[in-house]
Amino acid sequence: SSTIDLAVIPGDGIGPEVTTEALAVLHSAVGGGVAIAETHYSLGAEHYLETGEILHDETMERLARHDAILFGAVGGDPRDARLAGGLIERGLLLRLRFAFDHYVNLRPTRLFPGVTSPLSSPGEVDFVVVREGTEGPYVGNGGSIRVGTPHEIANEVSVNTAFGVERVVRFGFAQAAARSCRLTLVHKTNVLVNAGSLWQRTVDRIAPEFPGVNVDYLHVDAATIFLVTDPARFDVIVTDNLFGDILTDLAGAISGGIGLAASGNINPDRAFPSMFEPVHGSAPDIAGQQKADPTAAILSAALLLEHLGHPEAATRITTAVAADLAGRGSERRSTREVGAAILAAVER
Ligand code: NAD
Ligand code: IPM
Ligand code: MN
Repeated sequence: SSTIDLAVIPGDGIGPEVTTEALAVLHSAVGGGVAIAETHYSLGAEHYLETGEILHDETMERLARHDAILFGAVGGDPRDARLAGGLIERGLLLRLRFAFDHYVNLRPTRLFPGVTSPLSSPGEVDFVVVREGTEGPYVGNGGSIRVGTPHEIANEVSVNTAFGVERVVRFGFAQAAARSCRLTLVHKTNVLVNAGSLWQRTVDRIAPEFPGVNVDYLHVDAATIFLVTDPARFDVIVTDNLFGDILTDLAGAISGGIGLAASGNINPDRAFPSMFEPVHGSAPDIAGQQKADPTAAILSAALLLEHLGHPEAATRITTAVAADLAGRGSERRSTREVGAAILAAVER
């Protein structure tokens, strides 16, 4: 028997609601053989507004010692001036991803049987987006001058390193080799020529190491077309941080809704704890009303178990989710009811 030393960051809005359900399912799925020791960290916009703390260095050090992090969602009201400038998104969420070197942001997309897609004939939807997690336009290397004047200049700089691109591309190839052997690089090489060239050359250079993998390329604008008209063409998409962010909300939408989309912020080298969270945010519009679908958080817990080497427990969760999704009617259920139904399916 073993113990998972788990950090839990429920966060803001619907974060705590969906995390509660994910934890109940997680405990049940591992069964008696594995104990889960939870340490809850109160962090996020609400915590910041109450205490002034975004994320202390000392908290980072404690977080670094856990086996993994289960994360709900953070972020407050976008119109709240006290939170402007991505204070919490950058200072908390991106800080964790960067500091813990989560260079793979893994976002699987699957249209489960019985789930209605907004696409009239979606075909098979089963792909995974390997989104770079530590570079690109997210690094915050830009700056503004003459702010507020007619001569303001606002720059966002996308940073792409040979090291950073190679490691995530390599991960994408390995994923493709383990799946249906199709890798699509998505970028904008016709405009973002410097970064685009590095990504394209990296893919071309690594491709011979994976002779079984079919390599394709799409500009990101065209990729949005095919995600809607022919999602079956995708197996593994490897892409930069910002393109991956945008494509995965679209991927969530075509596969039955953002409430089903799970993700892992992964450090494949295992130098730091990986962090698992729904793709969605804190959803202030429905927070506190038990309206959020906890499925994305629950499936994120399955990704966590997979990462920590408990594939059977992970499968217990995905099987239970699939069973619940297959039987979902048109009646609206509360967050708690969906969580309870999936928990019951795990226990069956
Ligand atoms: P959002 O994902 O929170 O919400 C977008 C829409 O999807 C809303 O209408 C919401 O009600 C709906 N939705 C989201 N999750 C749902 C669920 N589980 N079930 C049913 N409906 C769901 O995105 P947003 O509105 O752009 O952002 C809100 C806040 O969350 C912002 O502060 C943003 O910065 C933050 N955010 C955080 C994360 C994160 O913590 N990982 C991710 C995205 C956005
Ligand atoms: C996501 C979110 C984050 C991102 C924000 C909140 C920083 O949208 O996890 O998809 O852009 O990565
Ligand atoms: Mn996003």
